[in-house]
Amino acid sequence: MDIKIAKLPGDGIGPEVVEQGVKAIDAVCRKFGHKVEYSFGYVGACAIDKTGSAFPEETYQTCLEADAVLFGAVGDPRYDNDPVAKVRPEQGLLAMRKQLGLYANLRPVETFDALVDKSPLKRELVEGADFICIRELTGGMYFGEKGRRDNGDTAFDTNLYHRYEVERILKLAFEYAQRRRKHLTVVDKANVLESSRLWRQIAQEMAPQYPDVVTDYMYVDNAAMKLINGPKFFDVIVTENTFGDILTDEASCVSGSMGLLASASVGEKTGVFEPIHGSYPQAAGKNIANPLATILSAAMLLEHLGLAKEGRAVRDAVAASIDAGIVTEDLADGGKAYSTSEVGDWVAAHI
Ligand code: IPM
Ligand code: MN
Repeated sequence: MDIKIAKLPGDGIGPEVVEQGVKAIDAVCRKFGHKVEYSFGYVGACAIDKTGSAFPEETYQTCLEADAVLFGAVGDPRYDNDPVAKVRPEQGLLAMRKQLGLYANLRPVETFDALVDKSPLKRELVEGADFICIRELTGGMYFGEKGRRDNGDTAFDTNLYHRYEVERILKLAFEYAQRRRKHLTVVDKANVLESSRLWRQIAQEMAPQYPDVVTDYMYVDNAAMKLINGPKFFDVIVTENTFGDILTDEASCVSGSMGLLASASVGEKTGVFEPIHGSYPQAAGKNIANPLATILSAAMLLEHLGLAKEGRAVRDAVAASIDAGIVTEDLADGGKAYSTSEVGDWVAAHI
């Protein structure tokens, strides 16, 4: 198969980790006889520096022409403490999601036996936890009307959801549950928020079409607690944009390191595959960041293109590197810490 991948490394550690994802993809393509071609685009702070825009039109075109996007991270401390900055790196990510119609963000959480003791939670709570958060990604407060009134002293963000937006993400979530352990948890705040009541109403309308799936409803505050005191309860979680943002950072701790969590954003146009850890500016350029989340995102990318065996090969190599202790300092636990590129080289060689 001929594969066209757009590389969007972005900011901070993005370039270093994306390079390791590319090594894994190259190794898999050599092994399975695929031809892969890469294009490149700027996004985030580096794009603002080059073009003035955080998601330039050229980068959008590059994404449209590719089969998939391998993305690093955006963010730069230069903008973090400037609440009045006119353009922000994060706008690049939001524009990319919106323009590519990426309404579904899939964040799987799995645990690796060798790393269970890295989790802040007790072994018996974590061992065997395996769930996926499906976060709505192009609606809600992130994109609803926002602004200031009263000379800037009053601010608002609108948590707006249309029926079609809720239906399409729930459909995807029900279908995921059917392919997994057939348990869907719809997370909302329906005791307070009207938008949540719409979500719950639509979920209840749809549930009978999936009689093999056990559907339950949980308030987001309760879900936040359950992720800590009983993460094994979950199979598929579906929720709106802001709740999903918060819960997925929390969920990432269950597995022991945020440096392991991959994600896929899919929807109308080209899908984007990225680690969830962000730009980690303190580590940028030091060759110490954990590349495994990006390499696992590359596995999700391959699987999304229908290359299941290839995705499996990448996942097996990642598991092998963890078992062999070929890991970066966040996972080294007193043992030898390998560099970002050493871990990437090892995984590629193993593939
Ligand atoms: C994420 C990030 C983004 C979000 C930021 C960088 C805009 O936290 O992908 O979870 O809030 O969605
Ligand atoms: Mn987030």
